[in-house]
Amino acid sequence: MADRQAAGIDATNQAFARYDQVNKPHEYHLAEARHGEAFDDDYRIRTCDLGRFLRGDAADRRAFARELTDALRAIGFAVLEGHGVDERLWTEAEARIVDLFTQVPLAEKLRFRARRHGSINQGYFPIKETSDIHPDLVEGWVFCRRAFELDGPARVAEFWPQPDLEPFFRRVCQAHERLILPVMRSLLLGLGCDEHAYDRRLTRTNFGLRLNYYPPVPSAEAEAGAGRLLGHEDVDLFTLLPAPRVEGLQVLNRTNMKWVRLNAPAGAFVLNTGDYMQRVTNDVLPSTTHRVSLPRDPALRGAARVSFPMAVYVWEDELLEVLPGLGAPKYEPVKAVTFHTRITSKYYGDDYAVGD
Ligand SMILES: [Fe+2]
Repeated sequence: MADRQAAGIDATNQAFARYDQVNKPHEYHLAEARHGEAFDDDYRIRTCDLGRFLRGDAADRRAFARELTDALRAIGFAVLEGHGVDERLWTEAEARIVDLFTQVPLAEKLRFRARRHGSINQGYFPIKETSDIHPDLVEGWVFCRRAFELDGPARVAEFWPQPDLEPFFRRVCQAHERLILPVMRSLLLGLGCDEHAYDRRLTRTNFGLRLNYYPPVPSAEAEAGAGRLLGHEDVDLFTLLPAPRVEGLQVLNRTNMKWVRLNAPAGAFVLNTGDYMQRVTNDVLPSTTHRVSLPRDPALRGAARVSFPMAVYVWEDELLEVLPGLGAPKYEPVKAVTFHTRITSKYYGDDYAVGD
């Protein structure tokens, strides 16, 4: 891992292009800071009111669908208000994440080290071991549907270091899961496709809830150009991220190759589309590059940052096919597990990939 990480620090995404399963012709450095980078302070990532889709009439739903799809088509990111999830749930989630990462001893955390279940590498990722190609200053913990008591008994001993975390984060997942179909239907409607084309695939679908703990960054590491999370694209259909409190999320605007700082208001979701979505929409909705940087204010670097994105997937056996009506397909149909693990073997090593 150390060799690949050392190479990754100076590499651009194109060094790993053979793993990509959708077109990504742009080039950016995986690590930041050493490479005089440009920021786009003018771009405004759109805020859309999901309440218009959830509670509006047919005209509201259509207007929201158009707005959201336009926002994502332009940059792959949007901010969602009006989603109806109680912000107090998020406040408690943040406190529990800090507690999980700072109170559970490392040896105990390592008993849950991530391993592949289906497509997804699920479990604990130590600091600097989120991926083989960059020493990210983050600890992570991924819980997929099978870790929760949603379709059968929870496998608590197998997945949870503190048993009471399962019912709490199950509530978080259930609150977020209710938005999966409305978001997908909005996008399909906005694209002029059958609004219900993914209803079956996304009912009780698989997801990855990723708990991220970015510890305070010592000034020596900050000066050495440390990054919190390298530039990457999400693999999924889309990601629902409760707006983090500490700044850091940056989105690459491919039209000018400048980074946009995304500071969504507390209580909002950040929504972004991933590789599955780019594939099935024939490149209409992009899988957009993003990363987590240190706060600009040095005083804030001494504070931890937490986030808990939910990545929405289809189950491993589903076929990812270009949706009808979006032009001549650029991509062959592919099984989700093959597509997913070919991409993520970039991070976890070539033997991570699963064949058809
Ligand atoms: Fe991401």
